[in-house]
Formats: sequence, structure tokens, C-alpha cells
Amino acid sequence: MPKPPAKPPREVCRLSEDCTIILGDCRKLAPDLDFDAIVSDPPYGIAFQRGGGGRGIQAKANTAPIIGDDQPFDPSWMLRLCAPDKPICFMGADKMLKHLPSGGAILCWDKACAQGAASSFCDAEYAWMNRKTARQIFHHTWKGISRDHTGEERHSIRLHVSQKPVALMAWLISSARIGLGKTILDPYMGSGTTGIAALQSGRKFIGIEIAPEHFATSRDRLAAYIATRAASAASEANH
Ligand SMILES: C[S@@+](CC[C@H](N)C(=O)[O-])C[C@H]1O[C@@H](n2cnc3c(N)ncnc32)[C@H](O)[C@@H]1O
Repeated sequence: MPKPPAKPPREVCRLSEDCTIILGDCRKLAPDLDFDAIVSDPPYGIAFQRGGGGRGIQAKANTAPIIGDDQPFDPSWMLRLCAPDKPICFMGADKMLKHLPSGGAILCWDKACAQGAASSFCDAEYAWMNRKTARQIFHHTWKGISRDHTGEERHSIRLHVSQKPVALMAWLISSARIGLGKTILDPYMGSGTTGIAALQSGRKFIGIEIAPEHFATSRDRLAAYIATRAASAASEANH
């Protein structure tokens, strides 16, 4: 499993007025950024890596291992950054229970959606956020090759070994009641899924990614989304 480079390279890309992404180590960069909320999917310490064999989506997947995923994750630094009252919501809650403060809510993502026999893929994942909510279960199929690709994801290959659905990150944003126009930071951006969800739902986005290959993936993905958005706005203006 790769270790973070001793001196991670740094690059800032301002892709649009509402989207900036940074290549580098979030623990060094995030404290200097101006943001309103954190929504993230950090490395959980499960050393998750899947072989790239097979056909179709799986064969083309970016299977680069995840930096930091070989050690248990401690979210304390992000919690401190959001104290006392910025919304924060992140995946992997069940892997870091001892670090979570009292209060807040555990959210469940049902990935199997009652799809038959058990397999080696887990049926659910859990997020935590520092706000209470009554809507605690989100159903969205994302198990093995059985994935509910919608919207922006429909035509893309799998972009990251730990890629999440845009719909899931959008649900976390709305569950955490992050206001329209607010700036969401994802310090562990991966392929930029939180960014797509933030922009689609009228929030601004700042993403940080330490691995140059994942940074390039998120830059290309977000730039393509922003170009499509600009083209539809121009076409609407012409009608
Ligand atoms: C679980 S993945 C996020 C996947 C993302 N949700 C998606 O849909 O593509 C976590 C990401 O955090 C990155 N990462 C790990 N340590 C980091 C650090 N110190 N600073 C910034 N990024 C880091 C990894 O390279 C990995 O891409």
C-alpha cells in the first residue's frame, strides 16, 4: 500500500466560479480554506483494492490503491475543523465509532436493495453527521456489477476503486441540511463524486486529493460536467 509522498505535489485548479480542486494533503491544506460544510468519503482503513480483471466496467476501473487505507481512520481533525456548528457528514462511520462524538446521527446506505443471495460484497455502508435527522436509510443499488447508474454516471466507466454514487452524496448533502450556495469541502475527493453532487444541487465545491491519478480523474470529470452545464445554459438562453 503506498504511503503519502513526503512532499506531496501541489496544484490548484479553479474549474469554475463554484468549483476549485487542489492536489495535495488535506490535513495540511484544509485548515487554510474557507468553507461552510464538510461532506466526505475518507479512507476507512480497510485496505480495499480490487483486481482489474474481467470485462466491461470492472476491466476499465481505476484500481490504484487508496493512500491511507491501510490504517484505521481518525476523523478528529475534520471534526475540530467544523466545530462548533458547521455541518459535517462522512462515510465509514462503523469503522470509526470510537472517534465519533455523542449526538448527531448514523445514516444507512442500503446498497443491496433486497437483491437475492448474499455475496462477498457488503449490503450496507454507514455515514455519520453532526445533525439529527428522521430520514436515516437511503436505498440505492451498488453491489458488484449491479449498479444503479443515473444521470452523469450513466455513460462513464468506473472511475475509482471506492467510487460512490452521486445520488448517495446528494442525499448526504440534503440530510445535513447544507444551504443552497454554501461551499462544501471534500478533503478526500477521489474521483470527485461529492463535487458533482454539490454542483448539481446548487452548492459550491472545494475538493482535495492527494493521489495525482485520482486528482486527474476528478479534474476531467468535473470539467466535463461544468462544460455540459454551460452548454445547456447557453442552449436554454437561445430558446
Ligand atoms: C474512499 S476514497 C474517495 C472516493 C470518492 N468518494 C469517489 O466517489 O470517487 C478516498 C480518497 O482519499 C484520498 N486521500 C487519502 N489520504 C489523503 C490525504 N491525506 N489528503 C487528500 N486525499 C487523500 C485517496 O487517494 C482516495 O482517493
